Amino acid sequence: MFEILGKRVLRPDVFLARVSAPAIARRAKPGQFVIVRAHEQGERIPLSLADIDVKNGTITLIFMVVGKTTRDLATFDVGDEIEDVVGPLGRPTDIERIGRVVLVGGGFGAAPLYPIGRAFKEAGNEVVAILGARSADLLVYEKELGSVSDRVLVTTDDGSKGIKGLVTDALKEVLDGAGLVMAVGPAIMMKFISLATKPAGVRTIVSLNPIMVDGTGMCGACRVSVGGETKFGCTDGPDFDGHLVDWELLMARQRTYLSEEKQSLEAACSCGGGEVVR
Ligand code: NAD
Ligand code: FES
Repeated sequence: MFEILGKRVLRPDVFLARVSAPAIARRAKPGQFVIVRAHEQGERIPLSLADIDVKNGTITLIFMVVGKTTRDLATFDVGDEIEDVVGPLGRPTDIERIGRVVLVGGGFGAAPLYPIGRAFKEAGNEVVAILGARSADLLVYEKELGSVSDRVLVTTDDGSKGIKGLVTDALKEVLDGAGLVMAVGPAIMMKFISLATKPAGVRTIVSLNPIMVDGTGMCGACRVSVGGETKFGCTDGPDFDGHLVDWELLMARQRTYLSEEKQSLEAACSCGGGEVVR
């Protein structure tokens, strides 16, 4: 069992939980994820790591309420225990000294970029963060990313904070001179970030969030196509070269169980259900 030591509501649909998991914290590296089962009858859902604290033996999970499991998880409070947390899973992000690293976080996808940004900063890079949300109240982790970045650019679709527009608009300002762009957020955002960096020849890493079941390379649910080869998001990723990802296939596969998810959420008041979104 994994005790929740801290909880924050980052925005009405996004929650943060700091969880006691000393063995995972000792081994986890930025870019990795865990699979969580909230209770004995719960399903397994992959969640990104928004922080790793080896000294205090904790990991920080962040999730959006999109289905029954995350809705259940959102009801957990400090002192409650999560049934299972399996990890760390996936390959860590490659951290090297590159020069200028641009981190692009879409919505709550900004949170997993915090430990990644800290690692790039500690490796001696200039870190520029771009955070985008539909409106100012939906921005998360601005302060945290600011603490590990040399510069932060904020965009909002409606212009309520920062640059009015999408993260791709802010990217134009800082792409020149960048050695690496790393994007985490909705697939459509990662696709357009990759399209924007390709003509400039800037290496672009994206953290993919395909449907996952076991998270250990056994079921094949997380298949993605990268450079014409089939890869498993859980064991070969989650980081991949954004210029080589087959985005249409990824997005089509992400939509596979949308109607079942909707049904399970609607039925969730009285019975169980499933979800597939990280
Ligand atoms: P959102 O859908 O509101 O999008 C956030 C921002 O992304 C927008 O404000 C915009 O700046 C940018 N964006 C969206 N569409 C774009 C486009 N076509 N071109 C350029 N930029 C675009 O974000 P949300 O509701 O907070 O959801 C966060 C998303 O991030 C979810 O889809 C979630 O699954 C994903 N996520 C992924 C990971 C991961 O590990 N890959 C981790 C956490 C969250
Ligand atoms: Fe089963 Fe990746 S989630 S193989």
